[in-house]
Amino acid sequence: MIELPLSGQTALVTGGARRIGAAIVRGLHAAGAKVIIHYHQSNTDALALAKELNQQRADSAFLVAADLQQTDLSAMMQQVLAYDKGLDIVVNNASLFYPTCLEWNEKAAQALMQVNAFAPYQLSLLAKPALEKHRGTIINLVDIHAEKPLRGYSLYSQSKAALRQQTMSLAKELAPYIRVNAVAPGAILWPEDKAALTAEQKAAMLKNIPLQRLGTAEEIAAAVLYLSTATYVTGVILPVEGGRLLVK
Ligand SMILES: NC(=O)c1ccc[n+]([C@@H]2O[C@H](COP(=O)([O-])OP(=O)(O)OC[C@H]3O[C@@H](n4cnc5c(N)ncnc54)[C@H](OP(=O)(O)O)[C@@H]3O)[C@@H](O)[C@H]2O)c1
Repeated sequence: MIELPLSGQTALVTGGARRIGAAIVRGLHAAGAKVIIHYHQSNTDALALAKELNQQRADSAFLVAADLQQTDLSAMMQQVLAYDKGLDIVVNNASLFYPTCLEWNEKAAQALMQVNAFAPYQLSLLAKPALEKHRGTIINLVDIHAEKPLRGYSLYSQSKAALRQQTMSLAKELAPYIRVNAVAPGAILWPEDKAALTAEQKAAMLKNIPLQRLGTAEEIAAAVLYLSTATYVTGVILPVEGGRLLVK
């Protein structure tokens, strides 16, 4: 039997029911990992994804539901750790993305910072003992706009800048037993709902991407898989953005 690169490993992916999160779940699962799919509102997608993966390999996909806006995530992590013999990979993918105007908005500030920066921090700290035992790894999904802020999205950009810094900070703090890295996607899947873009905005964005197309969720999943197996890489923010950062 062929040994897959993540055979015997268990991965938690937050916001893993749909879009990029689901591609990451599928990528890690195809590489042999058991997956714990965290979700909040996407109950139907999460159930369908777990069913699909468990049909491929029995008892290889589990679900955990939690609102990452709550400030105590210890019950969620207890549930995660109860599923299997340990934890090897934590992918902090769940995120909020919407524009904010330049007036103080406590609700938006707290929600964006909590879900995008503090929840990943808390989950990483809660997972630390388990990850240390397995010489595990943390992968955060940041954004190219953590480095170059996106106009109209100041709080979102700040929250991702915090997560970017958190990645480098934890890489130092958690070495030598736990590696911590991030993927910084460019434009991959168009945003939905209150962040949806007009056709003109989409065309303007595509014009600024040297590779002249959106990336795919699978290309982000491939970067996550690379970082999960790159045993001498830590503290790295890996841009996957079609050259977007080269353009002003
Ligand atoms: N899409 C892009 O082009 C792009 C570009 C740059 C960076 N990124 C980053 O890549 C990652 C994935 O992107 P995406 O577009 O696939 O993300 P997304 O669809 O905007 O969000 C992913 C998931 O986050 C979860 N989430 C949001 N609020 C939550 C809360 N309070 N509690 C628990 N879960 C919550 C949702 O889970 P439920 O649906 O289960 O509620 C959602 O499905 C994100 O970190 C994003 O910032 C994406």
